Amino acid sequence: MTRAPARQLVQLGAGDLADRLTEALHVYVTAMGYPVSTARYRRTLWLEHVRRQGWRAVGWLDTTGVLVGIAYGYSGGPSQWWYEEVRRGLATATPEAQRWLHDYFELTELHVRPDVQGHGLGEAMLRALLHGAPNSRVLLSTPEYGPNPPGRAWRLYRRMGFQDVLRDHRFTGDARPFAVLGRSLPLDPPSSLVH
Ligand SMILES: CC(C)(COP(=O)(O)OP(=O)(O)OC[C@H]1O[C@@H](n2cnc3c(N)ncnc32)[C@H](O)[C@@H]1OP(=O)(O)O)[C@@H](O)C(=O)NCCC(=O)NCCS
Repeated sequence: MTRAPARQLVQLGAGDLADRLTEALHVYVTAMGYPVSTARYRRTLWLEHVRRQGWRAVGWLDTTGVLVGIAYGYSGGPSQWWYEEVRRGLATATPEAQRWLHDYFELTELHVRPDVQGHGLGEAMLRALLHGAPNSRVLLSTPEYGPNPPGRAWRLYRRMGFQDVLRDHRFTGDARPFAVLGRSLPLDPPSSLVH
């Protein structure tokens, strides 16, 4: 009996992401429910991120080789927009809380195409991306869930041990409240990482 081909969790290099940028941005806009036009504006930014120190990415390929999940991040630090926005939010925090901004990996993007969500693909990407990251901790930002029950992203982050760094934070140029969450590294790898 032949086994059906399985989805593959793969590490993506800078060239891989550039080659698959249209696919990756399609995963991003469908997962986030954004208009397709958003992808156009993100192309330049994602390609600029590839050049940042510590950049790494992973993805899921379906059985036909199409990208259905994408995650990437890099080492955060002064002069990056996100670092400065979080630093502003932590300006009046305790010195202990401000230590979150030392030696961290910024989890910038984590998305699974809606039709394959809820099967553990996001968790596997998170583990694969963070396993082997040289930083002491990981930080991310995610929209607040407000009066609704926490959604899948929040459930994943809490399950993975992410704690509150900032709540109801406003990033410049975005009216929505965000949470900044973090946890220490390392994190155990998934069982299915394909090199
Ligand atoms: C957030 C997101 C990346 C999570 O990825 P995912 O693959 O859907 O979710 P997970 O890896 O957490 O899957 C776990 C779910 O699958 C189920 N599951 C099924 N089989 C599983 C397995 N073998 N291993 C782990 N979980 C499994 C779990 O019960 C769990 O269900 P629950 O979330 O209802 O509790 C994805 O839902 C997404 O792209 N959402 C929209 C975009 C977004 O919000 N991105 C984050 C922005 S900050």
